[in-house]
Amino acid sequence: TQCKLLEEEFGLVHLSAGELLRNERSSGSADGELIESYLCEGKIVPVKISLGLLKREMKKHSATYIIDGFPRNQDNLDGWHQLMHSFATVDAVLYFDIPTEIMIDRMLTRGETSGRSDDNIAAAKKRIHTFKESTLPILDYFQSHPDIKLCTISGLGSIEDVWNRTKTAI
Ligand code: C5P
Ligand code: MG
Repeated sequence: TQCKLLEEEFGLVHLSAGELLRNERSSGSADGELIESYLCEGKIVPVKISLGLLKREMKKHSATYIIDGFPRNQDNLDGWHQLMHSFATVDAVLYFDIPTEIMIDRMLTRGETSGRSDDNIAAAKKRIHTFKESTLPILDYFQSHPDIKLCTISGLGSIEDVWNRTKTAI
């Protein structure tokens, strides 16, 4: 939601790792079944696949991107360093901080219309588990990086409340 607003307000190009994976899964690609099994389990797809999809989009034109949902674990971060070091630079990372219960509520509400196979209570719990185990630890890397600004933004309140904080952070 916030990435879409950033795209409109600042002319950034929004790329969603999750969306690219869902599209790839549905496209009849050879990796389709493998991707679906990771999505259902709330697990992080091997970086070769996710970053391959992101890089394919980024090669289409030069722009300032807002990349949504990446990196999600150490494998994503290592892959970025290996495959992207001479291709793109990172200015900032936005981390939207929200209590687990509210996150789950939002996923379930979205599930009423999203048609996503992972917006249900069982998959949501798995995704939260993966987040705590694999995503939170890599925030330390950005916290201590001298050239990358880590912005922690409270995700509490309305879309507009969060948007006001996001604009200020940018
Ligand atoms: O970000 P989003 O909620 O759209 O991600 C949905 C799913 O896509 C994740 O739970 C995970 O299975 C997969 N994903 C991934 N690697 C990423 C981003 C998303 O494997 N970097
Ligand atoms: Mg997403």
